[in-house]
Amino acid sequence: MKGMKLFMKMNINSEQLGKVEECIRYYPPNIETVESSDTLSFFQNPRNVAIYIHIPFCRTPCGFCPFNQYLYNKEKIDSYLNSLKKECSLIKKQLLSQEINVETVWIGGGTPMDLDESDLEYLLKTVNESFDLRNIKEFTIELKPLQSHITDAKLNILKKYNVNRISMGMQSTDNNLLKKLHRGHTAEEAYSIIALLLENKFEINVDMIYNLPEQTPEQILRDVDNISPLGIDHISWFPYVLHRGTPFAENVIKNGGKDFKDKERYFEMFCEIKDRMEKAGYSQYTPYYYTKSNQCNYHINRWKFPQIETIGIGAGAFSYFEGRIYANAHNTEHYQALLTHNKLPIVKGKKLNYFEEVSRLAVLGTKFFAIDLDDFKALTGFDLTALYRKEIEEMLELGLIELDNKKLTCTLLGKAFNNDLSNYFVLEHLRQVAQPQATTIMEEGL
Ligand SMILES: C[S@@+](CC[C@H](N)C(=O)[O-])C[C@H]1O[C@@H](n2cnc3c(N)ncnc32)[C@H](O)[C@@H]1O
Ligand code: SF4
Repeated sequence: MKGMKLFMKMNINSEQLGKVEECIRYYPPNIETVESSDTLSFFQNPRNVAIYIHIPFCRTPCGFCPFNQYLYNKEKIDSYLNSLKKECSLIKKQLLSQEINVETVWIGGGTPMDLDESDLEYLLKTVNESFDLRNIKEFTIELKPLQSHITDAKLNILKKYNVNRISMGMQSTDNNLLKKLHRGHTAEEAYSIIALLLENKFEINVDMIYNLPEQTPEQILRDVDNISPLGIDHISWFPYVLHRGTPFAENVIKNGGKDFKDKERYFEMFCEIKDRMEKAGYSQYTPYYYTKSNQCNYHINRWKFPQIETIGIGAGAFSYFEGRIYANAHNTEHYQALLTHNKLPIVKGKKLNYFEEVSRLAVLGTKFFAIDLDDFKALTGFDLTALYRKEIEEMLELGLIELDNKKLTCTLLGKAFNNDLSNYFVLEHLRQVAQPQATTIMEEGL
């Protein structure tokens, strides 16, 4: 039990750690319902942006997944893609006079590579015609490792539209676990798709999941040993998060849900993965992401200090631009109805005040494990250590950070319990506010 030993050696008050289970990915979390509007002014200056596009359809939904997704239906997909084109054109109309430099595009879901060939081409053509992608650094699309997702024709379409990176959900290399998760694919199918993608010179990310109630540390080490020799540059390790409203969560709760809430067990798995991945030549650059050579530009764009703006397109997409955060309608019918009336499909939003802007830089910035104090001061006018004096003392006492006069850096504990650390930078009155998740926004009928 390496994690347990480390806990004891570090003499940590573990009551203070592991309190924030969900990933703090959106900030501030207190977005309010707004009337949809086609008159929002987007950008005023030349600027760099990241674009996220959501395709909310899956043929075989997984019980653990909280993302905004619906059962695959060809007719619904076709009409959804029409609406998406309309949304792009409304955005384009408002951007026409603006100089926008798109740095990265990420098409996620759902399972966008499950679209049939003509729909995939329609989607990529829409994106290419709507935005100037000449200076793009990276263009990613998500894939589930099913043979039907990756025909020769689809590979050619990806190349034609300059998609250069594939993010593939693998989750585990244990076929019994994959079956329990209703993934509909085996580890071997995933290996052969990885080989095909490498042959075709795509950059690859593979998503893995750990700390599921029925997973053991031994199983996870086998996962690391199985995937690390495959020649993949980027691997994501996500700790299982129980999301209210998902079928799997009900089951976990019914069975007590003890294991996945066990902080020592989580910390042990976190450390074992880190050790083994580092031995295999990967380095960890956020709580979730490992790479051999290239950090993902899209993750850099949305999290690393100083974050750039993100335009979210599609049902349930989130945006951050011109000092505002926005959430699109999550329900596809609602999303499409707004666009039919030539309205942007925004249903929630908030203009950030100055303190929310400043704290956002640190809340998300710490996900990249360090913040340069001079850079922070130069951008905000604030000395980070003076602004958060009390919080920084507590973090130092808990062993979450190290501090010198140049940098605030996460320790091993700060990396593993990074959401607790992020939460110290959240403005005090927002610390208990839950992240705006698909399941909760859907409950509001939006
Ligand atoms: C939007 S999903 C897309 C992946 C793709 N649709 C697939 O299933 O292969 C992105 C990743 O989130 C992770 N994920 C989903 N639900 C999760 C949960 N409850 N806790 C932790 N990670 C989760 C999975 O690793 C998944 O691959
Ligand atoms: S993990 Fe992927 S395939 Fe499974 S439900 Fe979520 S988005 Fe769909």
